[in-house]
Amino acid sequence: MTTDGNGNFNSKTTFYVVACWIFVAFGGLMFGYDIGISGGVSGMDDFLILFFPKVHERKKTAKENNYCKYDDQLLQLFTSSLYLSALVSSFFASKACTKLGRKITMMMASLVFIAGAVSSAIANNLIVLILGRILFGIGVGFGNETVPLFLTEVAPIQHRGAVNILFQLFVTIGIFIANLVNFATSKIHPNGWRMSLGFAAFPAGVLFLGTFVITDTPASLLSRGKEEKAKSVLKKVRGVSDVDAEFQEIVAANEQSKQVKHSVKSVFKPPSIPPLVISVLLQVFQQFTGINAIMFYAPVLFQTMGFKASSSLLSAVVTGIINVVSTCVSIYVVDKVGRKKLLIQACIQMLISQVAIGIILAKSLGETGTLNKTLAIVVVLLVCTFVMAFAWSWGPLGWLIPSETFPIETRTLGFAFAVSTNMLFTALIAQAFLTMLCTMRAYTFFFFSAWIFVMGLFAIFFLPETKGIPIEAMVERAWKKHPVWKKLF
Ligand code: BGC
Repeated sequence: MTTDGNGNFNSKTTFYVVACWIFVAFGGLMFGYDIGISGGVSGMDDFLILFFPKVHERKKTAKENNYCKYDDQLLQLFTSSLYLSALVSSFFASKACTKLGRKITMMMASLVFIAGAVSSAIANNLIVLILGRILFGIGVGFGNETVPLFLTEVAPIQHRGAVNILFQLFVTIGIFIANLVNFATSKIHPNGWRMSLGFAAFPAGVLFLGTFVITDTPASLLSRGKEEKAKSVLKKVRGVSDVDAEFQEIVAANEQSKQVKHSVKSVFKPPSIPPLVISVLLQVFQQFTGINAIMFYAPVLFQTMGFKASSSLLSAVVTGIINVVSTCVSIYVVDKVGRKKLLIQACIQMLISQVAIGIILAKSLGETGTLNKTLAIVVVLLVCTFVMAFAWSWGPLGWLIPSETFPIETRTLGFAFAVSTNMLFTALIAQAFLTMLCTMRAYTFFFFSAWIFVMGLFAIFFLPETKGIPIEAMVERAWKKHPVWKKLF
């Protein structure tokens, strides 16, 4: 027998298989650690005195209103520069992924990332600091390009969503750890910030070691002409010896892909247009939920609302925990409930939360005042329900769906478009959010609400359900059956 009763291929979850998933998911921790560490570091006085003395001066003397006290383009550039570097490098990563395979690309990601950590930790001038940001960015670009693809390609189909979401789970753990590290190092003078940035080498080190344990994916090996190896690897990652049926399916997809001319143009042709449009929009929408306003600037945001520094940090820790736990919910339900329902449900929950936050702040928070205690607690709870909804939907699915919908011939390039869009819009939010808060005030939250409404409509009308469909069968079973996308075929 080659499949189970549900049409799934044979597989057994062995210790080795799980170890591979976990090692690779450390790539997500690199990304998450970056997201979580920058905001805190750029608030540390020792760091500001050394690299941004003018900002430090302003911070000490400024008597600005609630919404504007943290607005500073140069500082925001420190955060966003990493994502701009990742944006460019994801296209080089796509090339490396196709030509050299997933495994070597991950090895490159981890090594460059370690170099970024070293450069950042020893920096004594802005040039070395920025070099560190660029190297971190290359590491993230290469890591984010390969890790979700690797997890999707090695996962048995019935657990594909759950295995891929390990990436996002590690992103959330990375953000959380970074917040705790910043909390501890902010008390260490004058070099606490060096520790925060240098510690980023840890997840990259684990990923690097992991590359000696894992194998490349069967699909990647096959597309590089290594048929024998691909079959033995498939047996290894499935934990069983009878993998003929699944192997035949991958071989057929690979043969089909050889008929197509592999060029940049092919990503703009029919079998790749629906996944390309969906992947890019999912990433744009993911960032326009406003999630990174909270991930980068939660303590700042809570201080804007009038919380004291210590309770702001505590609130950030609470949202961090909710982010991790709710991602686990997604791991549990994504292959049962499906992708589409999760995205739509979350839009409703996020919309209610953002609108309510906007109304409370618009009505009750003046320029220099604070919220009363009850309202402050309500706002924290609303931030929690918002993060919760994001974490079981648009967070993980923004990575999962692009990794499971491209045909093999455009998979790495198509996915690079998803990664680079994520990076571009992450940089935009990092760069613009504090300015938006300063100029649009509470209306910032209505801006995000409007986007959430649009993305809900997008999920309803443009997304097919991809749960349980083999990647190789997307054209027949997803695109050709969808009322909008079938018109292309
Ligand atoms: C997003 C990040 C975000 C994180 C929050 C990821 O999926 O790409 O931008 O910070 O989720 O958990």
